[in-house]
Amino acid sequence: PKCWAVVPAAGVGKRMQADRPKQYLPLAGKTVIEHTLSRLLASGAFQKVAVAISVEDPYWPELEISKHPDVITAPGGKERADSVLSALKALQGKACEDDWVLVHDAARPCLTASDIQLQIDTLQNDAVGGILALSSHDTLKHVDGDTITATIDRKHVWRALTPQMFKYGMLRDALQQTEGNPAVTDEASALEIMGYQPKIVEGRPENIKITRPEDLALAQFYMEQQA
Ligand code: CTP
Ligand code: MG
Repeated sequence: PKCWAVVPAAGVGKRMQADRPKQYLPLAGKTVIEHTLSRLLASGAFQKVAVAISVEDPYWPELEISKHPDVITAPGGKERADSVLSALKALQGKACEDDWVLVHDAARPCLTASDIQLQIDTLQNDAVGGILALSSHDTLKHVDGDTITATIDRKHVWRALTPQMFKYGMLRDALQQTEGNPAVTDEASALEIMGYQPKIVEGRPENIKITRPEDLALAQFYMEQQA
């Protein structure tokens, strides 16, 4: 089966409190989304990269990479899951039901080719697929209001990153059937609701999601280390 990439990039970046969506902020010489897309394209792993872009986004058409022959643009949706489903639909007729799709946040520019390769190598013979994830170094507390009710066994708790790698047809169906469900905050949760059991592949802590202003400086630091 072939591999396709889907990049949700239609968020407004509210927590970033910047003058534009965070995927268009400058980072090490280009915008965040240009780093993300060029890394996906340079990996050589994907037939095409389908990017979900907000319909009134004035920044995207200004970027050279929006015209790249292997980049397909799809209209973004209300929630991240809607944007992902829209990008999947743009691959209809190109991707086969059984092909793999790796969904990766535009806001995670520090992804490396080895992250992608490890994930594909680990999951390519799996029936469902799975996600990059990180263990937690901190002790984790279950809390009710401001009171600790339990200490959670760390070995059972992982932090979900992207890429999230699933079968094209299975992921599309799962997102379609869970449309509007607020519990669907990533691809794996949609598959879980459908009764599947996605796998985890251990990722790297450098694969951060740019969320708050200080994350840009951290991403810059990681990129300097990678260079
Ligand atoms: N995203 C999207 N469509 C949406 C919401 C989010 O494509 N309706 C994308 C974002 O552009 C981002 C990724 O999903 O690349 C992860 O979402 P998040 O980090 O929450 O980004 P924002 O929603 O833009 O940020 P915030 O939640 O702070 O507003
Ligand atoms: Mg958001």
